[in-house]
Amino acid sequence: MQRVVPRALSEIHCRLRRRCFSQVAQIKTAIQENDVVVPKMPTFDYTPPPYAGPSASEILKKRNEFLSPCVFHLYSKPLNLVAGKMQYLFDENGRRYLDAFGGIATICCGHCHPDIVDALVNQMNRLQHSTVLYLNHAIADFAEALASKLPGDLKVVFFTNSGTEANELALMIARLYTGCHDIISLRNAYHGNAAGTMGSTAQRNYKFNIVQTGVHHAQNPDQYRGVFGSEGVKYAKDVQDIIDYGTCGRVAGFISEAIQGVGGILELAPGYLPAVYSSVKEAGGLCIADEVQSGFARTGSHFWGFEAHGVVPDIVTMAKGIGNGVPIGAIVTTPEIAKVLSYHGYLNTFGGNPVCTAGGLAVLRVIEKEKLQQNAFVVGSYLKEQLTSLMEKHQIIGDVRGRGLMLGVELVTDRQLKTPAKVETLHIMDQMKEMGVLVGKGGFHGNVFRITPPLCFTVEDADFLVGVMDYTMSKM
Ligand SMILES: Cc1ncc(COP(=O)(O)O)c(C=O)c1O
Repeated sequence: MQRVVPRALSEIHCRLRRRCFSQVAQIKTAIQENDVVVPKMPTFDYTPPPYAGPSASEILKKRNEFLSPCVFHLYSKPLNLVAGKMQYLFDENGRRYLDAFGGIATICCGHCHPDIVDALVNQMNRLQHSTVLYLNHAIADFAEALASKLPGDLKVVFFTNSGTEANELALMIARLYTGCHDIISLRNAYHGNAAGTMGSTAQRNYKFNIVQTGVHHAQNPDQYRGVFGSEGVKYAKDVQDIIDYGTCGRVAGFISEAIQGVGGILELAPGYLPAVYSSVKEAGGLCIADEVQSGFARTGSHFWGFEAHGVVPDIVTMAKGIGNGVPIGAIVTTPEIAKVLSYHGYLNTFGGNPVCTAGGLAVLRVIEKEKLQQNAFVVGSYLKEQLTSLMEKHQIIGDVRGRGLMLGVELVTDRQLKTPAKVETLHIMDQMKEMGVLVGKGGFHGNVFRITPPLCFTVEDADFLVGVMDYTMSKM
């Protein structure tokens, strides 16, 4: 567990800001268009290999014919991305884009990071797959390294292929360990798309009409729209009420993200998790932290999102950033809880395969070597400040929130009523793409920009993003 030292960081922060302001001033004098500054993308010394593959329209035609109709794309003119390097992506014509979405908070070290590519290719050349039925050092090395990043007795790892699988397993373990069935999750949560996790996911946009047994969805400690504002303890009472009035008094567990990602970068109100963890533990349940988006240094102040709330979960689930783009997920729990899986055969064919675990170990090493947690803190704090200052100029920005490089910008047409600016969000997002910046979109109403870039994002990138957002909002 590594915590960023605020004083040292604030000095770096000041230095960066001084340097950055002078660069911004230069750019501002360089390009003006009708009194609105046209931002310029930071320079980047990399040219992707030439692309000779099919065009965007050819790919779209094939997708429409051969892929499930549920596969959708962003932007009115979809983007054909053919190469990536660190925080940048390139389209079929070699045009460069600043990636402020990171493949949905997944690319933590940067696209095609050389150390990670080397680790993957070396392992691929040696042995790609064998299953855990045979020994191989890659899975054991990564499990040891991963366990060292977790607090307390969280020392036993089980690898999966995705976040959904990790959460399905965590829910099942909670039920097996406690002998209870009731799970409490939060409204507005996203935990995955298989039968069990879809039950705990609590946004109708992502739920099908499947049987969902024993899941209770508690009031969301939403600091922007919630009735109690930032008073976390007040929301926590709903969990106690669910236990008291909706169950036999004993539950299997509670699952939550520390910052709801798909739900629109909503950080749980302070004081909420300690109060809820205490109620759940008293009811015999296990507390599950879903770190699929907020883990792996993204929040900057801490390595894991839950650490900012001063709690220690019984099970931590992870995916996305763990592999910087390779399909891998994991749960980490205590030796005692982990034992429940040994009473029957339990195997995941690809889980913990040598390639993905070699890649995962390289990710951890890069995060440490390149001090990406500190960078997420410094650049993320700076970016949040700059986005917040845009609120003075643009009424459409209702809220700026999040932590480190997991930030959200909620757009509303009326700040008092908090009316979601859905159409405007789509328009601005499209325009930002035209100017070379890719952000994500989320929230129940689809009116929140999700900014979750690779953690190598720089202050210059942050200025470019803010400049582009300012420019597109000014042009509306
Ligand atoms: C918090 C959270 N948990 C779980 C998942 C599911 O992960 P996957 O898509 O890898 O199955 C996601 C996916 O977005 C997520 O954001």
